[in-house]
Amino acid sequence: MNVPCGLGFQVPFSERIRREADVMTQSVGAILDGHQAEAILQEGRADLVAVGRQALYDPYWAHHAAHSLGYDLRFGDWPIQHGRGSPSGHRSWNNSNSRTTMSGA
Ligand SMILES: Cc1cc2nc3c(=O)[nH]c(=O)nc-3n(C[C@H](O)[C@H](O)[C@H](O)COP(=O)(O)O)c2cc1C
Repeated sequence: MNVPCGLGFQVPFSERIRREADVMTQSVGAILDGHQAEAILQEGRADLVAVGRQALYDPYWAHHAAHSLGYDLRFGDWPIQHGRGSPSGHRSWNNSNSRTTMSGA
């Protein structure tokens, strides 16, 4: 069986099984960002999404997805040691009035 590949290429299977067998399903297959994942859930096409290769590419995928969806905007769920790498850390460097030191949090 050849399965055409593309964004969310296995979602139609998850959706159909969920509807016709009336069981909860998880979908996987080229789910690349938070908005795509959230749409699959909101549209009732799966009860859970899984991310494979994209999470290998971006180990902080879940954090980035949450942030892009408006959650954890202050990076409170990130390891504190990563704070300087977050966009909020960069913002303090863009402010010419702020005197940021490398030892600062
Ligand atoms: C490193 C790696 C290991 C995988 N191992 C399995 C496995 O053991 N069994 C399986 O059914 N699928 C396995 N898969 C396939 C994934 O479950 C998934 O169907 C596939 O990667 C498509 O999703 P993605 O586009 O998010 O990667 C694996 C994928 C990757 C990248």
